[in-house]
Amino acid sequence: MVPEDKIPSHVAIIMDGNGRWAKARHLPRTQGHAEGVKRVEELILQAHHLGIKVLTLYAFSMENWNRPAEEVSMLMRLFIMVLSHRVKDLADQGIRLRFIGRRQGVPAEVLKAIDAAMDNTKHNSELTVNIAFNYGSRAEMVDAFKCVAQDLLDKKITVDEINETAITKYLYTAGQPEVDLLIRTSGEQRISNFLLWQLSYAEFYFTEKFWPEFNAAEFENALKVFATRQRRYGGVYA
Ligand code: FPP
Repeated sequence: MVPEDKIPSHVAIIMDGNGRWAKARHLPRTQGHAEGVKRVEELILQAHHLGIKVLTLYAFSMENWNRPAEEVSMLMRLFIMVLSHRVKDLADQGIRLRFIGRRQGVPAEVLKAIDAAMDNTKHNSELTVNIAFNYGSRAEMVDAFKCVAQDLLDKKITVDEINETAITKYLYTAGQPEVDLLIRTSGEQRISNFLLWQLSYAEFYFTEKFWPEFNAAEFENALKVFATRQRRYGGVYA
C-alpha cells in the first residue's frame, strides 16, 4: 500500500517498449501496441482508484510520424477504435479525457474521435487523463510564446506581468498541477521532448519493464519508490 499522503497529484508516463516486447515474442510490433492499450486502460482505472488527479500519457509524439506508414496507420486505427469504444466507461466513472498536442497534421477521423472523447467527458473532474498526441514539448512552448506575444500586442498583458505563473497558463496543461512523478518504461532514460516545463521538479522513475509488462503491481511499485523520495525543490532536507 502507498500512504495516502504520498500519492502524487500528477503522474506522467512515457509508455515505451511495445515494439521490443512484441519482437521478443516473435509477434508483429502492432501486437505490442494492442497489448499496450490494455495496460493503458488498467492504469487509468488504477490511478482513479488511488486518487491521482492528473495522468499524462505520451501516446504519439510529433516525431512518431516518421515510423513505417503501416505502423502509423495501425496506431491511428487503434486510437480511433479505443476512443470510440472505451470512452463511455471512463466517462461514467467521472474521468475526463483531454488531448494535448498540435491538431495540425492529425487525420480528420482521428480529430473527430478526439473531439468527441473530450466533449463527452468535459464535465468530469475526478481524474483528468491528458493524452499527449502529436505532441512535442518545444512545439508546446513555441505555441505558448506566440500566444504571449499576441496578448502583448492586444494589450491583454504587460511585459511586467510575464512571470512563471503567467507562462504556465499558456501551456497545454494550463490549470493543472505540475508533474510530481515521471515514469519511463523499457530501460531508456531520457525525456524525449516531453513536458519539459512541467517536469521541472518531478521525480523520475525508470524501469526495465516494457510497457505491455507495466501492470498494476509495477505501477504500485513506482508509487512506493516515489513515496520514499525526499523532495527539496532546491532547498535542504527538513
Ligand atoms: C512506444 O513503444 C509506444 C508508442 C509509440 C505508442 C504508445 C501507444 C500505446 C501504448 C497505445 C495507445 C494509447 C492510447 C492512449 C489509446 P515503441 O513502439 O516505441 O516500442 P520500441 O521502442 O520497443 O520500438
